Amino acid sequence: MPSYLITGSSRGLGLGFVTELLKDPGNIVIATARDPTKSAGLQELKKKHGYAQLHLVSLDVTKSDSVHDAAEATQKLLPDGLDYIISNAGVNYSPLKSPRCIPQAIQRAGVGEDLYSKIRWFVGGNLHA
Ligand SMILES: NC(=O)c1ccc[n+]([C@@H]2O[C@H](COP(=O)([O-])OP(=O)(O)OC[C@H]3O[C@@H](n4cnc5c(N)ncnc54)[C@H](OP(=O)(O)O)[C@@H]3O)[C@@H](O)[C@H]2O)c1
Repeated sequence: MPSYLITGSSRGLGLGFVTELLKDPGNIVIATARDPTKSAGLQELKKKHGYAQLHLVSLDVTKSDSVHDAAEATQKLLPDGLDYIISNAGVNYSPLKSPRCIPQAIQRAGVGEDLYSKIRWFVGGNLHA
């Protein structure tokens, strides 16, 4: 059974990853959040999927004690090892209104034209895929 640990899963994309991964009953999911008890989304998933498939673990990625504790908790849950980590936790303090804003954001950040054109094609290609 493949196992996944997702950071920052209290809401947004992280909660989305957890929700999608739980659709396969063969997956074991460790959903981490600074305080999983405060996430309505995680609590709802816990009610639906129970303890065998979904585990909620506290993890603040900026605090080494918390990282250490979460690693220990994960080791206890999965003594044979974890297969995948989705490192999602983070905050974007200036979210873009739409993908069309990406060129201006990159130019504001002072990225050179050569790199910009590569990112434009790479990101654009994925957005349209
Ligand atoms: N949404 C986008 O369009 C987009 C685009 C590019 C990149 N991203 C990146 O994708 C990731 C998720 O984006 P999102 O839109 O889903 O963000 P979001 O809705 O703001 O959710 C951020 C998640 O990160 C958690 N988090 C914040 N600081 C943390 C910490 N110190 N330790 C552990 N967890 C922490 C939050 O948990 P709490 O509930 O504890 O605050 C929350 O679960 C972020 O890294 C973001 O920068 C998003």
